[in-house]
Amino acid sequence: MGGLTASQRRLASARSGRICCRRQGRKVGSLVVLGSLLVLAGCSGPLSTLDAAGRGAERIATLFWWLAASAILIWVAVIGLTVYAVRLRPEPHSQRAAKLLIIGGGVALPTLVLAGYLVYGLSLLPDLLQPAPPGSLRIAVTGEQWWWRVRYLAPDGEAVELANELRLPVGEPVEVLLDSPDVIHSFWIPSLAGKLDMIPGRVNRMALEPTKTGVFQGACAEYCGTAHALMRFYVAVEEKEKFARWLARQKQPAQAAAGPLARRGQELFLANGCGACHAIRGTPAEGVIGPDLTHVGGRLSLGAGILPNEADDFLRWMARTEDLKPGVHMPSFGMLPTQHLRALAAYLDGLE
Ligand code: CUA
Repeated sequence: MGGLTASQRRLASARSGRICCRRQGRKVGSLVVLGSLLVLAGCSGPLSTLDAAGRGAERIATLFWWLAASAILIWVAVIGLTVYAVRLRPEPHSQRAAKLLIIGGGVALPTLVLAGYLVYGLSLLPDLLQPAPPGSLRIAVTGEQWWWRVRYLAPDGEAVELANELRLPVGEPVEVLLDSPDVIHSFWIPSLAGKLDMIPGRVNRMALEPTKTGVFQGACAEYCGTAHALMRFYVAVEEKEKFARWLARQKQPAQAAAGPLARRGQELFLANGCGACHAIRGTPAEGVIGPDLTHVGGRLSLGAGILPNEADDFLRWMARTEDLKPGVHMPSFGMLPTQHLRALAAYLDGLE
């Protein structure tokens, strides 16, 4: 800029400053849009409280939207006052105006808003804690280390046991009985209802009432030990007839192993002592320590929601159990020959 006068140089520098500011503004704008999209993307999906598919979750989502709306209103009001005080009327304000602002905005308004939400929140509780009506379907869920034991309780006292999966009929209230033999877990299906602790020596009751069909996920919401974060489960909400067919099938004993590989797998299952921990109804395997495997091949996941459910996943799970879920009680069976693991996987995958 050798040939420019001082005022020309100032003008050029101001212009380039404005262009740079505009560019930065656009960058910040796109970052804000991208950030908001990412945040909004978290509002749906199988683990979302805001994508409500149950009576309890709908109440909780409504409370959330009211809280979010009032937080935005208060934020806009505070920013508005700041702009007014700094830009529009920067001169000193009277003592009286300052006092009014502090007492009104700093004491009266928060007291009113929070008291309003306290009353609203408390008024939701009776509805959220309302038990399922007598005669509802009852399901006992036990938090194990680190998986979910699920038992469908028939009115005659019979129980059908499965693991890491709940199927529910849409539009019907269900009573869930929650407990744990050793450590505290928390049972949470965000799309259906709030969370409730599973406490050793106590049975907590929760009513679930799904309003939409679909497959949702549940998680443990209380730190319970090494594999706490690997303690998921699936919840399939189905039409009543489909649910009834599924439950009738769960009550049946395991189907016979089909094909030579699966039959070899069944022999190996018994020979390797798997039946000491796992039950497969209709076979000599009657263990009660680990998950009931009677219909394991028909479940939506393996290892409490951490693997899909294909023959290869059974093989991976058996060979590397302790790597996949540190702290799990089941030992890895990686020492077995791969052919044996393949046969075992074919047998278990066939138990639908
Ligand atoms: Cu079970 Cu955390």
